[in-house]
Amino acid sequence: MDDILKGLRAAAEPTRLRILGLCAHAELTVSDLCDVLGQSQPRISRHLKLLVEANLLQRNQEGPWAWYRLPEGGAGSEIARLIVDLLPPEDRRHSMDLERLESISEGWATRVADYFRQHAGDWEHIRALHTDQERVDKELMAALSGRPIASLLDIGTGAGHVLLLLAAQVPAAIGIDRSREMLQVARHNLFRAGHRHCQVRQADMMTLPFDKESFDAVTLNMVLHFADRPDAVLGEAARVLRPGGQLVVVDFATHELVALREEQAHRWLGFGDSQIADWYRKAGLVPSRPRHLTGGELTVVLWSARRPANDAIASAPASPRKRNAKTTKTAAPKGRSA
Ligand SMILES: C[S@@+](CC[C@H](N)C(=O)[O-])C[C@H]1O[C@@H](n2cnc3c(N)ncnc32)[C@H](O)[C@@H]1O
Repeated sequence: MDDILKGLRAAAEPTRLRILGLCAHAELTVSDLCDVLGQSQPRISRHLKLLVEANLLQRNQEGPWAWYRLPEGGAGSEIARLIVDLLPPEDRRHSMDLERLESISEGWATRVADYFRQHAGDWEHIRALHTDQERVDKELMAALSGRPIASLLDIGTGAGHVLLLLAAQVPAAIGIDRSREMLQVARHNLFRAGHRHCQVRQADMMTLPFDKESFDAVTLNMVLHFADRPDAVLGEAARVLRPGGQLVVVDFATHELVALREEQAHRWLGFGDSQIADWYRKAGLVPSRPRHLTGGELTVVLWSARRPANDAIASAPASPRKRNAKTTKTAAPKGRSA
């Protein structure tokens, strides 16, 4: 009862209600909200503080930026969603706020386009070396279609490619990446696609900011070759998998394009099937038969594995970082503070 009263009190103010309505559509910064609402930063920050304290909003710090969105779980999550659902779509102020948000997102689009222009050459180069992306995507979707997935984690999500691909298949998904620029691109792409149930966070694949057993499926699409210690990355991915959950790595088979080390910062020139299978087993996972997609200079491979349903992963590597935040039903990231 106290939580409900706290939430209702916090939301019972026009600007705060408008903020909730906006954050239900996209993850936003203080400056985005200032632009949409036409109010000063100190005022918006004060409203945000109250909403976070009432658990109606979740705040995620990324370097100098704080991002606000509706929480994925916990006391205020349902109250926030109920309140937002009560907002009539025809309400003039709310619909004007959403129109303004649309136009602000055009500014994000320009930044996104700039970033892509800078990196397009690198990506085109890599894509040209292997089989077409559509085929890889189809295989990835097929690999994950065996069992229902309540929550998905995409490690090294980049522009959110895997989240966009699987959004229709999952009720909740989180992508992590260490690059803030890529996350900005991903946020933009998810907003444009209307995938409000997908979110992204800045994090390193070696130290995932999630409790153990938080996800039904974890993906690493073209990321593992950047890892200093792929075995530790797979151990960390296995740690956050629920029993019965599935891990899928998509990467290159071993190759000899040494130039990719210099030009694209690849740490590994692909991987062998037995190498990945060994790492999977050490992480307590049961590997499936790999899928080799030939058709270019580089062969793309899907390596899938499952955590046994009744398993406690006795042999999995210890987590590299101490974790003490609570688990929420949709595996919300940790380390939030108001
Ligand atoms: C080739 S991109 C692939 C992006 C995406 N998975 C896709 O399929 O389009 C590799 C991504 O891995 C991210 N990355 C590299 N090292 C990382 C690390 N240690 N932790 C998290 N992300 C990392 C990069 O920032 C980049 O976005």
